[in-house]
Amino acid sequence: MNIKTGSVHSFHGRDVEVLFSRDDITSRLQALAKDIEKDYHGKELVVVGVLKGSFLFMADLVRCISLPLTCDFLRVSSYEGEHSTGDVRMEFDMTQPIHGKDVLLVEDIVDTGNTLRHLLSHLKAKQPSSLRVASLLFKETGRNGRSLVDYIAFEVPNRFVVGYGLDYEGQFRSLPFVGAFI
Ligand code: IMP
Repeated sequence: MNIKTGSVHSFHGRDVEVLFSRDDITSRLQALAKDIEKDYHGKELVVVGVLKGSFLFMADLVRCISLPLTCDFLRVSSYEGEHSTGDVRMEFDMTQPIHGKDVLLVEDIVDTGNTLRHLLSHLKAKQPSSLRVASLLFKETGRNGRSLVDYIAFEVPNRFVVGYGLDYEGQFRSLPFVGAFI
């Protein structure tokens, strides 16, 4: 299948418009990784992925970053279907201590910013030396915490997006592109 930006495909009974193709993502991640390498030159990073949505983004991003780093994960949930419940639940926490470490938190998407605010205060309490955020997507709704995010791969319109890690009721995560329901 030729999956190009702007094309529409049917998956799990839904029409999905491709917003960012696999190629778009690959080249954007290389640029993002260069920025991260510049900012963390001479340092060692702890990259913390927020499951489940960030798993593909994190896997591809860390392979582009030429710095010594370790990986860890935590898991939160706040969405039911297409809507945020507003209630962020930590389902499991990361395992390594980050006191005095340079931490890069990796998110799939920042929408209202609720999840991120919750995670930042949770991680700050562990006293890392520095804490920054990389998000694959940022919704252009204006109501959220743009200033909380240091590295953004793509901005997206206020539509429900799926693919490349992001799901709708557990499906669509394995699509190799980011798409929006139409
Ligand atoms: P926030 O707390 O409103 O910023 O939402 C953040 C979390 O909600 C993300 O980590 C996603 O898991 C989920 N989310 C928000 N918008 C979407 C979307 O358009 N598609 C899939 N998941 C989303």
